Amino acid sequence: MVSLIKAGIIKKNKGSPLEEDACYEIRYLDEGHLNEMMALQEVIVQNLADKEIFRTHSIDYFRVLFMVENAAIGAFADEGLIACILLQFPGKAGDNFGADVNLPKDDLSKVVHLAKVAVHPAFRGNSLQRKMQSIHLEVARKMGCYHACCMVSPKNRHSLENMFSHGFIIKALKVKFGSRLRYILHKNLLCPNIVVPDEIRIASSNIGGQVCLLNRGFLGFRLVQLCDDLEISYGRVHAPMIQ
Ligand SMILES: CC(C)(COP(=O)(O)OP(=O)(O)OC[C@H]1O[C@@H](n2cnc3c(N)ncnc32)[C@H](O)[C@@H]1OP(=O)(O)O)[C@@H](O)C(=O)NCCC(=O)NCCS
Repeated sequence: MVSLIKAGIIKKNKGSPLEEDACYEIRYLDEGHLNEMMALQEVIVQNLADKEIFRTHSIDYFRVLFMVENAAIGAFADEGLIACILLQFPGKAGDNFGADVNLPKDDLSKVVHLAKVAVHPAFRGNSLQRKMQSIHLEVARKMGCYHACCMVSPKNRHSLENMFSHGFIIKALKVKFGSRLRYILHKNLLCPNIVVPDEIRIASSNIGGQVCLLNRGFLGFRLVQLCDDLEISYGRVHAPMIQ
Protein backbone atom coordinates (compact mmCIF):
# COMPACT_ATOMS: atom_id res chain seq x y z
CA MET A 1 0.00 0.00 0.00
CA VAL A 2 1.30 3.48 -0.90
CA SER A 3 2.43 5.55 2.09
CA LEU A 4 -0.09 7.64 3.95
CA ILE A 5 0.43 11.41 3.82
CA LYS A 6 -2.53 12.67 5.82
CA ALA A 7 -5.81 11.35 7.22
CA GLY A 8 -8.84 12.69 9.02
CA ILE A 9 -12.60 13.23 8.93
CA ILE A 10 -14.45 15.20 6.27
CA LYS A 11 -18.09 15.81 5.40
CA LYS A 12 -19.79 13.84 2.67
CA ASN A 13 -22.66 15.68 0.89
CA LYS A 14 -21.81 18.83 2.85
CA GLY A 15 -24.70 21.20 3.36
CA SER A 16 -27.37 18.73 2.19
CA PRO A 17 -29.85 16.67 4.28
CA LEU A 18 -27.62 13.67 3.48
CA GLU A 19 -24.56 15.22 5.14
CA GLU A 20 -22.47 12.72 7.12
CA ASP A 21 -18.93 12.32 8.43
CA ALA A 22 -16.50 10.29 6.36
CA CYS A 23 -12.93 9.16 6.98
CA TYR A 24 -10.39 10.15 4.34
CA GLU A 25 -6.76 9.41 3.62
CA ILE A 26 -4.39 11.24 1.30
CA ARG A 27 -1.81 9.05 -0.46
CA TYR A 28 0.50 9.21 -3.44
CA LEU A 29 -0.95 7.53 -6.52
CA ASP A 30 0.73 5.05 -8.83
CA GLU A 31 -0.14 3.07 -11.95
CA GLY A 32 -2.40 0.80 -9.91
CA HIS A 33 -4.81 3.73 -9.54
CA LEU A 34 -5.20 4.51 -13.25
CA ASN A 35 -8.64 2.94 -13.62
CA GLU A 36 -9.97 4.73 -10.54
CA MET A 37 -8.52 7.94 -11.94
CA MET A 38 -10.42 7.49 -15.21
CA ALA A 39 -13.64 6.70 -13.30
CA LEU A 40 -13.25 9.86 -11.17
CA GLN A 41 -12.63 11.95 -14.28
CA GLU A 42 -15.86 10.61 -15.77
CA VAL A 43 -17.89 11.54 -12.65
CA ILE A 44 -16.38 15.04 -12.66
CA VAL A 45 -17.27 15.62 -16.31
CA GLN A 46 -20.80 14.25 -15.94
CA ASN A 47 -21.43 16.74 -13.12
CA LEU A 48 -19.99 19.84 -14.75
CA ALA A 49 -22.47 22.52 -15.78
CA ASP A 50 -19.84 23.99 -18.11
CA LYS A 51 -17.56 21.32 -19.55
CA GLU A 52 -15.21 23.90 -21.07
CA ILE A 53 -13.54 24.57 -17.71
CA PHE A 54 -12.12 21.06 -17.32
CA ARG A 55 -9.93 19.22 -19.80
CA THR A 56 -10.15 15.45 -19.91
CA HIS A 57 -7.22 13.17 -20.65
CA SER A 58 -6.56 9.65 -21.83
CA ILE A 59 -5.31 6.88 -19.59
CA ASP A 60 -1.95 7.09 -21.40
CA TYR A 61 -1.58 10.75 -20.42
CA PHE A 62 -2.10 9.83 -16.76
CA ARG A 63 0.22 6.81 -17.07
CA VAL A 64 3.11 9.06 -18.11
CA LEU A 65 2.49 11.52 -15.26
CA PHE A 66 2.10 8.73 -12.70
CA MET A 67 5.56 7.43 -13.60
CA VAL A 68 7.15 10.47 -11.95
CA GLU A 69 7.53 9.76 -8.25
CA ASN A 70 5.13 11.75 -6.00
CA ALA A 71 3.62 13.58 -8.99
CA ALA A 72 0.10 12.31 -8.30
CA ILE A 73 -1.75 12.59 -5.01
CA GLY A 74 -5.18 11.18 -4.26
CA ALA A 75 -7.69 11.34 -1.43
CA PHE A 76 -9.58 8.15 -0.60
CA ALA A 77 -12.79 7.48 1.32
CA ASP A 78 -14.76 4.23 1.70
CA GLU A 79 -15.93 4.70 -1.91
CA GLY A 80 -12.32 4.71 -3.23
CA LEU A 81 -10.61 7.63 -4.96
CA ILE A 82 -12.57 10.86 -4.29
CA ALA A 83 -10.03 13.53 -5.27
CA CYS A 84 -6.76 13.87 -7.11
CA ILE A 85 -4.15 16.40 -8.07
CA LEU A 86 -1.30 16.03 -10.52
CA LEU A 87 2.05 17.70 -11.02
CA GLN A 88 3.71 17.94 -14.40
CA PHE A 89 7.31 18.86 -15.11
CA PRO A 90 7.31 20.45 -18.58
CA GLY A 91 11.08 20.90 -18.97
CA LYS A 92 12.52 23.50 -21.32
CA ALA A 93 11.19 21.92 -24.49
CA GLY A 94 7.50 21.33 -23.73
CA ASP A 95 4.54 23.70 -23.53
CA ASN A 96 5.97 25.46 -20.50
CA PHE A 97 3.58 27.92 -18.84
CA GLY A 98 6.66 29.69 -17.46
CA ALA A 99 7.21 30.93 -21.01
CA ASP A 100 3.64 32.27 -21.08
CA VAL A 101 4.41 34.42 -18.03
CA ASN A 102 7.81 35.52 -19.36
CA LEU A 103 10.06 33.75 -16.90
CA PRO A 104 13.75 33.89 -17.82
CA LYS A 105 14.73 31.04 -20.20
CA ASP A 106 17.19 29.62 -17.67
CA ASP A 107 14.39 29.19 -15.14
CA LEU A 108 12.12 27.14 -17.39
CA SER A 109 13.70 23.87 -16.26
CA LYS A 110 12.70 24.81 -12.70
CA VAL A 111 8.99 25.14 -13.48
CA VAL A 112 6.34 22.76 -12.21
CA HIS A 113 2.76 22.76 -13.49
CA LEU A 114 -0.15 22.09 -11.18
CA ALA A 115 -1.69 20.13 -13.98
CA LYS A 116 -5.02 18.89 -12.73
CA VAL A 117 -7.27 18.98 -9.70
CA ALA A 118 -10.59 17.28 -9.21
CA VAL A 119 -12.80 16.58 -6.22
CA HIS A 120 -15.80 14.24 -6.39
CA PRO A 121 -19.02 16.35 -6.13
CA ALA A 122 -20.12 14.49 -2.97
CA PHE A 123 -16.95 15.56 -1.15
CA ARG A 124 -16.64 19.22 -2.15
CA GLY A 125 -16.39 21.93 0.47
CA ASN A 126 -13.74 20.14 2.57
CA SER A 127 -10.82 22.17 1.19
CA LEU A 128 -9.38 19.03 -0.38
CA GLN A 129 -7.90 21.04 -3.26
CA ARG A 130 -6.06 23.32 -0.81
CA LYS A 131 -4.98 20.47 1.47
CA MET A 132 -3.55 18.41 -1.38
CA GLN A 133 -1.97 21.33 -3.21
CA SER A 134 -0.17 22.47 -0.04
CA ILE A 135 1.42 19.03 0.08
CA HIS A 136 2.30 19.13 -3.61
CA LEU A 137 3.82 22.62 -3.51
CA GLU A 138 6.14 21.45 -0.73
CA VAL A 139 7.00 18.31 -2.74
CA ALA A 140 7.83 20.46 -5.78
CA ARG A 141 9.98 22.84 -3.73
CA LYS A 142 11.93 19.94 -2.27
CA MET A 143 12.43 18.60 -5.81
CA GLY A 144 14.21 21.85 -6.70
CA CYS A 145 11.41 23.72 -8.51
CA TYR A 146 11.52 27.51 -8.21
CA HIS A 147 8.27 28.28 -9.99
CA ALA A 148 4.78 26.79 -9.92
CA CYS A 149 2.34 27.62 -12.71
CA CYS A 150 -1.21 26.59 -13.43
CA MET A 151 -4.08 27.46 -15.72
CA VAL A 152 -7.62 28.21 -14.61
CA SER A 153 -10.67 29.20 -16.61
CA PRO A 154 -12.02 32.71 -15.83
CA LYS A 155 -15.33 30.90 -15.18
CA ASN A 156 -13.89 28.56 -12.54
CA ARG A 157 -14.52 30.53 -9.36
CA HIS A 158 -13.76 27.75 -6.87
CA SER A 159 -10.45 26.71 -8.36
CA LEU A 160 -9.41 30.35 -8.79
CA GLU A 161 -10.19 31.15 -5.15
CA ASN A 162 -8.11 28.21 -4.01
CA MET A 163 -5.15 29.21 -6.18
CA PHE A 164 -5.23 32.78 -4.81
CA SER A 165 -5.28 31.34 -1.29
CA HIS A 166 -1.94 29.65 -2.06
CA GLY A 167 -0.45 32.99 -3.16
CA PHE A 168 -0.67 32.42 -6.92
CA ILE A 169 -1.19 35.50 -9.05
CA ILE A 170 -2.61 35.94 -12.53
CA LYS A 171 0.14 36.91 -14.95
CA ALA A 172 -1.46 36.20 -18.31
CA LEU A 173 -4.82 35.57 -19.94
CA LYS A 174 -4.80 33.81 -23.27
CA VAL A 175 -6.24 31.05 -25.41
CA LYS A 176 -4.51 27.73 -24.74
CA PHE A 177 -4.96 24.23 -26.16
CA GLY A 178 -6.48 25.58 -29.34
CA SER A 179 -9.65 27.14 -27.97
CA ARG A 180 -9.67 27.41 -24.19
CA LEU A 181 -9.44 30.81 -22.57
CA ARG A 182 -7.28 30.52 -19.47
CA TYR A 183 -5.67 32.61 -16.76
CA ILE A 184 -2.08 31.59 -16.30
CA LEU A 185 -1.13 31.86 -12.66
CA HIS A 186 2.33 31.83 -11.16
CA LYS A 187 3.85 31.45 -7.72
CA ASN A 188 7.53 31.93 -7.01
CA LEU A 189 8.27 29.07 -4.61
CA LEU A 190 11.47 30.64 -3.29
CA CYS A 191 10.41 34.22 -2.85
CA PRO A 192 6.68 35.00 -3.01
CA ASN A 193 5.48 38.01 -5.00
CA ILE A 194 4.18 40.91 -2.99
CA VAL A 195 1.22 42.60 -4.58
CA VAL A 196 0.75 46.24 -3.76
CA PRO A 197 -2.95 46.83 -4.07
CA ASP A 198 -3.06 49.80 -6.38
CA GLU A 199 -6.36 48.02 -6.75
CA ILE A 200 -8.43 47.99 -9.91
CA ARG A 201 -11.42 45.65 -9.87
CA ILE A 202 -12.77 44.30 -13.13
CA ALA A 203 -15.35 41.67 -14.10
CA SER A 204 -13.80 38.28 -14.85
CA SER A 205 -15.97 38.24 -17.98
CA ASN A 206 -14.26 41.42 -19.26
CA ILE A 207 -11.50 39.67 -21.16
CA GLY A 208 -10.26 42.64 -23.21
CA GLY A 209 -10.08 44.87 -20.13
CA GLN A 210 -8.05 42.30 -18.21
CA VAL A 211 -5.63 41.70 -21.09
CA CYS A 212 -5.15 45.45 -21.23
CA LEU A 213 -4.37 45.63 -17.49
CA LEU A 214 -1.94 42.69 -17.75
CA ASN A 215 -0.17 44.41 -20.65
CA ARG A 216 0.20 47.50 -18.44
CA GLY A 217 1.95 45.43 -15.76
CA PHE A 218 -1.01 44.77 -13.45
CA LEU A 219 -1.41 41.30 -11.97
CA GLY A 220 -4.54 39.59 -10.62
CA PHE A 221 -4.39 38.69 -6.96
CA ARG A 222 -7.91 38.38 -5.52
CA LEU A 223 -11.40 37.36 -6.44
CA VAL A 224 -14.50 39.21 -5.32
CA GLN A 225 -17.88 37.49 -5.59
CA LEU A 226 -20.72 39.89 -6.36
CA CYS A 227 -24.35 38.73 -6.46
CA ASP A 228 -24.34 37.98 -10.17
CA ASP A 229 -20.71 38.34 -11.26
CA LEU A 230 -17.12 37.68 -10.32
CA GLU A 231 -14.58 40.47 -10.17
CA ILE A 232 -10.82 40.13 -10.12
CA SER A 233 -8.66 42.61 -8.23
CA TYR A 234 -5.57 43.68 -10.12
CA GLY A 235 -2.59 45.45 -8.58
CA ARG A 236 1.06 46.16 -9.15
CA VAL A 237 3.66 43.75 -7.90
CA HIS A 238 6.89 44.26 -6.05
CA ALA A 239 9.20 41.91 -7.97
CA PRO A 240 10.89 39.40 -5.65
CA MET A 241 14.67 39.25 -5.49
CA ILE A 242 14.62 35.96 -7.38
CA GLN A 243 12.46 36.24 -10.46
C1 LIG B 1 -12.31 23.11 -8.05
C2 LIG B 1 -12.57 21.96 -7.08
C3 LIG B 1 -11.43 20.97 -7.14
C4 LIG B 1 -12.68 22.55 -5.65
O1 LIG B 1 -13.13 21.52 -4.76
P1 LIG B 1 -12.96 21.65 -3.17
O2 LIG B 1 -11.54 21.56 -2.77
O3 LIG B 1 -13.88 20.69 -2.56
O4 LIG B 1 -13.47 23.13 -2.94
P2 LIG B 1 -13.53 23.95 -1.56
O5 LIG B 1 -13.50 23.03 -0.38
O6 LIG B 1 -12.47 25.01 -1.62
O7 LIG B 1 -14.95 24.62 -1.64
C5 LIG B 1 -15.25 25.92 -1.13
C6 LIG B 1 -16.75 26.15 -1.29
O8 LIG B 1 -17.10 26.09 -2.68
C7 LIG B 1 -18.07 25.07 -2.92
N1 LIG B 1 -17.70 24.39 -4.18
C8 LIG B 1 -16.50 23.87 -4.49
N2 LIG B 1 -16.52 23.41 -5.76
C9 LIG B 1 -17.77 23.65 -6.24
C10 LIG B 1 -18.42 23.40 -7.47
N3 LIG B 1 -17.75 22.84 -8.50
N4 LIG B 1 -19.71 23.78 -7.62
C11 LIG B 1 -20.38 24.39 -6.61
N5 LIG B 1 -19.82 24.64 -5.40
C12 LIG B 1 -18.54 24.27 -5.22
C13 LIG B 1 -17.93 24.14 -1.75
O9 LIG B 1 -19.10 23.40 -1.54
C14 LIG B 1 -17.60 25.09 -0.63
O10 LIG B 1 -18.80 25.73 -0.20
P3 LIG B 1 -18.99 26.07 1.38
O11 LIG B 1 -17.86 27.02 1.72
O12 LIG B 1 -20.34 26.68 1.41
O13 LIG B 1 -18.86 24.76 2.09
C15 LIG B 1 -13.91 21.26 -7.43
O14 LIG B 1 -14.92 22.22 -7.56
C16 LIG B 1 -13.84 20.45 -8.73
O15 LIG B 1 -13.41 19.30 -8.73
N6 LIG B 1 -14.31 21.07 -9.83
C17 LIG B 1 -14.35 20.38 -11.13
C18 LIG B 1 -12.95 20.17 -11.72
C19 LIG B 1 -12.23 21.48 -11.88
O16 LIG B 1 -12.80 22.50 -12.18
N7 LIG B 1 -10.89 21.43 -11.70
C20 LIG B 1 -10.04 22.62 -11.86
C21 LIG B 1 -9.57 22.77 -13.25
S1 LIG B 1 -8.38 21.50 -13.66
